[in-house]
Amino acid sequence: MDMREVITGALYRAAREAYPEAGFDSEALSRALEIPPDPALGDMAFPCFSLSRTLRKAPPQIAVSLAERIDDPMIGRTEVKGGYLNFFFSRVAMARATVEAVLDSKGRWGAGREGEGKTVCLDYSSINIAKRFHLGHLSTTVIGHSLKRIYDYLGYTTVGINHLGDWGTQFGKMIAAYRHWGSREEVEKGGVQALSDLYVRFHQEAEKDPSLDDEGRAWFKKIEDGDAEALAIFDWFKQLTLKDADRVYKTLGVSFDSYAGESFYNDKMDRVVRELKEKNLLVESDGAYVVDLEAYGMPPCLILKRDGATLYATRDIAAALYRMDTYHFEKCLYVVAYQQDLHFRQVFKVLELMGYEWARDRMQHVAFGMISYEGGALSTRHGRTVYLDDVLQAACDKALAIIEEKSPGLDNKEEVARQVGVGSVIFFDLFNSRIKDIDFHWDRALNFDGETGPYVQYTYARCCSVLRKAQGLSAERDYAALTDDESLALIKLLALFPEAVRDAAARNEPSVLTRATTEIAKAYNKFYYEHRILTDNVGESAARLALTRAAMEVIGRGLYLIGLEAPQQM
Ligand code: ARG
Repeated sequence: MDMREVITGALYRAAREAYPEAGFDSEALSRALEIPPDPALGDMAFPCFSLSRTLRKAPPQIAVSLAERIDDPMIGRTEVKGGYLNFFFSRVAMARATVEAVLDSKGRWGAGREGEGKTVCLDYSSINIAKRFHLGHLSTTVIGHSLKRIYDYLGYTTVGINHLGDWGTQFGKMIAAYRHWGSREEVEKGGVQALSDLYVRFHQEAEKDPSLDDEGRAWFKKIEDGDAEALAIFDWFKQLTLKDADRVYKTLGVSFDSYAGESFYNDKMDRVVRELKEKNLLVESDGAYVVDLEAYGMPPCLILKRDGATLYATRDIAAALYRMDTYHFEKCLYVVAYQQDLHFRQVFKVLELMGYEWARDRMQHVAFGMISYEGGALSTRHGRTVYLDDVLQAACDKALAIIEEKSPGLDNKEEVARQVGVGSVIFFDLFNSRIKDIDFHWDRALNFDGETGPYVQYTYARCCSVLRKAQGLSAERDYAALTDDESLALIKLLALFPEAVRDAAARNEPSVLTRATTEIAKAYNKFYYEHRILTDNVGESAARLALTRAAMEVIGRGLYLIGLEAPQQM
């Protein structure tokens, strides 16, 4: 039940009848519809100001002539105020239509097919080899994962890509360090942590003995030349890192379709360099090769170093070409920190200069802000690293303690604590617009009464519990029981959920859904406190139960789309 569609239809019919000589575009009418800030002004409003110019009539006059011709059972009444035509929905019709449409969708309220036949590539998480998964990599991982689910829900084919950071001189240094001070057993046991420790040691020792740097470079050269020993060690480092990351991904419920990272493009660099040369885009600068971007207000994009080595940007250009050739994407999204803004603008511009028109509008940097932890900045350099698996473990422990206290009788406490703990972290990350910086605080993330994951999950479990208690009740629903303010507020939010899904996709902004879902949970709780659900009146009870089921399904779907699980009992 899409009220915007209903109103658009009625408005379009009225407009054509009132002004047969004028041409109207129903999509433009739909876009112009507003939701008034104060419900006393109506459930939706149509401003007549822009029509006033084309029709050469005063806005209130237009509003009146449209109002006279509005005729739809879903619209209870209209009101003209200033240049606005305000619509008040028929509460009972709206309740029936919305609740039935939600229940008919079988848990897929707001799903769509507009993405059919179109592919979206999503580059997210994209971790670096030999580094432990830290809190700084949370946002890219959960934003990307949520967007993947949202696009899937709208019918797109999605490709989740973990563009591994698995290329660069640091890996030569790591091998050198391993050969000097490491042992197979130690690294096997210590995993990624042992690798980062070796790397730190390398830098300490290299300060005293600069020849180590040459050794590191030599090892990297061996990797580049495909030396068997170097590659075997490097591959092993990669496996260790991925094993560690996989644990985190499992906990978060995140997955990928491809792990093609920087090194995957080794044999695809020549094409980039050759094409850039052929198109006269490559210029020499101090022995290195760059693409000059001065005309676009950007520093040059580095393509080849003086020693002929390629760079991060060169690999991203190769990756974009490969993705287009392989997936024929409609959109290619890069969920990467805001700090890389310039990098992506440069890469997109170079592709455009190469003649790839699609780079202009199909590539997008989905940027996000910084995360800090309990008021302190994160930094890998200065030792204050917060590891994600520690955070997730702590979240589960804390959630378990709360659940022990709140619901000591619950059966599967550990499982629920995991869902709630992990969910609280994801939710916290996805609550505000992605571009905003986040300061992660336990008391805010795990507050069962605030705008948090646990609060929304708790509401979901509450709906489930109401429905469990009422099992067996079957009666004709009396929709007149859903015309009070609390029911209507909830119904309106349910009706708007499909719009929220589309808005989240259009802006690549999961927070739109986090908020829409939270608002539905709040509205359900308000409804729940104000109204008894099971009363002596079976028609009324059946209607309130149907609304509870609709709320439960939509909240569950909202949680799923942002990447949370929904416990049935809490
Ligand atoms: N590995 C990089 C980092 O951690 C992110 C890579 C993002 N994706 C890309 N195609 N550049 O900063």
